Amino acid sequence: MSISRNILLKMSESTFLKKHVPNIWFVRKALKRFMPGETEEAAFIESKKLALLGIPTVYTRLGENIKNLDEADEVKNHYLQLIDKIKSQNLDIEISLKLTQLGFDISEEETYNNFKAIIGKANAILNNTVFGESTTSWIDIEGSLYTQRTIDFYKRIKFEFDNVGLCLQAYLYRTEKDLNELIDFRPIIRLVKGAYKEPENIAFPQKRAVDENYFKLSQRLMKEIKEKNIRSAFATHDEKLIGKIINEARTIHLPKDKLEFQMLYGIKPELQKELAKDGYKVRVLISYGASWYPWYMRRLAERPANVWFVLKNIF
Ligand code: FDA
Repeated sequence: MSISRNILLKMSESTFLKKHVPNIWFVRKALKRFMPGETEEAAFIESKKLALLGIPTVYTRLGENIKNLDEADEVKNHYLQLIDKIKSQNLDIEISLKLTQLGFDISEEETYNNFKAIIGKANAILNNTVFGESTTSWIDIEGSLYTQRTIDFYKRIKFEFDNVGLCLQAYLYRTEKDLNELIDFRPIIRLVKGAYKEPENIAFPQKRAVDENYFKLSQRLMKEIKEKNIRSAFATHDEKLIGKIINEARTIHLPKDKLEFQMLYGIKPELQKELAKDGYKVRVLISYGASWYPWYMRRLAERPANVWFVLKNIF
């Protein structure tokens, strides 16, 4: 892991910086590149533009590690209202949540009930209009402290709801084994490289090894998509990796419309358009909300050159 990535990830965990950095005007200005605004209304405007290009979206309201169950309740109510608003917009928008946003640090049972209320409502009133499937509600994956519990949570909720998706991180050594164990559950997987600060004994320290593992896991997922018609999404902006995945799909005769790429709002927008125009499924994740500090620092850590972009906003 590079020193600058390390420092930025360390900064993402600082409570002092979390309190003060969001008030700095040029940081707020630079944030617009990754986030259309703090409200879902700002996100809807971008979803409409992307929908015109055949690109549906997935929403997450930023926030993690809430401290009490009242906060979890507020988050749950926010998503319940959001689902009504999505319905009224008549757009294909899915939702993605962090379990620690719903009370995972405090009560697993309450987290389960909160998630169940949200997915139950999403299933009742949202349809995935662009891809013609029922809407998927996604579970983000957080730091390795939560990996096993999140996977257990996923298995439990997957018994009750078929259309629930889970994010897995290619930088963890354990992910290949996790995927093998999950396969019998017909999982809906979003594969990412991984965004947290993890020690070398549990995560590949070198980018090249992470990329190789990502491709290996992609090959496994593509085989499952082809043989069992499950949904998987390759969430990366890495053009080389995307090229390799597309080649592999051609080799195994996986049709273009079975290959789904997910990317973050504001990152590689031209690539998003090109892939959609080429006939691949593309879905863009839009984040909004006031608690953006740790998430934003992780975005800077992914590409430390972004720090210069932030500083350029002073002028
Ligand atoms: P990589 O970091 O190698 O980047 C490839 C290229 O993309 C870079 O060279 C650069 O050009 C561009 N790029 C990437 N990040 C950029 C940035 N921040 N700013 C500007 N350019 C950038 N992680 C996690 O741990 N848990 C999760 O639940 C999720 N969820 C999630 C959902 C979706 C839809 C996406 C796309 C990503 C996530 N992630 C995540 C984040 C993921 O783990 C990873 O940190 C980022 O996607 C960056 O990795 P890439 O695969 O893009 O490769």
